Amino acid sequence: MSFKEGDYVLIVYEDRKYLRKLVKGMSLNVKEHTIQFQDIVGKGDGQKIGEFFVFSPTLEDIILLGFERKTQIVYPKDAFYIAFKLNIKSTDRVLEFGTGSGVMTVVLSLLAGEVWTYEADTKFYNNALKNWERFGLCSNVKAFNENFLSASVEDNFFDACFVDVREPWEYIEKVWRVLKDGKACAFVLPTTNQVSKLLSSMQNFFADIQVFEILLRHYKTNPERLRPQDQMVGHTAYVVFGRKRI
Ligand SMILES: C[S@@+](CC[C@H](N)C(=O)[O-])C[C@H]1O[C@@H](n2cnc3c(N)ncnc32)[C@H](O)[C@@H]1O
Repeated sequence: MSFKEGDYVLIVYEDRKYLRKLVKGMSLNVKEHTIQFQDIVGKGDGQKIGEFFVFSPTLEDIILLGFERKTQIVYPKDAFYIAFKLNIKSTDRVLEFGTGSGVMTVVLSLLAGEVWTYEADTKFYNNALKNWERFGLCSNVKAFNENFLSASVEDNFFDACFVDVREPWEYIEKVWRVLKDGKACAFVLPTTNQVSKLLSSMQNFFADIQVFEILLRHYKTNPERLRPQDQMVGHTAYVVFGRKRI
């Protein structure tokens, strides 16, 4: 594969990364070094140009560097394990609310047959649509600019559900109703007092309830002095998981 005008490219300089669209006449300056975008056109994935490397961006690059984040997002370290716990298959119809910046929707959409996602706030809804459109993602997603509470959804309709809202306990009964029997729901919450409240609300509706968090520690890559980075992201969210009981 070689880069052409209009492509997104990940430009790496030492430990810095930049996601840029290849627009004629544009360039990137880092410290005293410059890379002209016209010099990237026609080059292959992984090629060195001056002091820079150029790569085709991964989904993680797109989400972390390319998506406009107008809300908190689900971080890649959490997103794929959540999808794994939800056991999403290519024939599944998955429910999500709130859509937020549309990050988790991308992960769900890659694995599921179809995703129905609800976002109450119009500016966040429009931003999520823009994020997906910019990178050609989420063609199997039905997005609704609507509060999930007022959404009209059939009972026993979804194969999995993901919830990222501040007060998920308010929706437990409805989530239970629209999920197929035995199917899973995952919730993310930043604080333990929210988790406690959610757990209390789940007791009569869900079984196989689990709470976990995922810690990811990066290492410095000097082979002679291999050791963890001094700083890490200490907390993103608690994940609460459960399966619909009948
Ligand atoms: C933290 S953000 C979700 C971020 C998203 N998971 C992502 O990865 O980009 C929470 C969103 O839920 C929306 N929201 C809150 N309550 C809602 C409801 N009842 N129905 C639909 N959206 C809701 C908020 O407007 C906000 O955009």
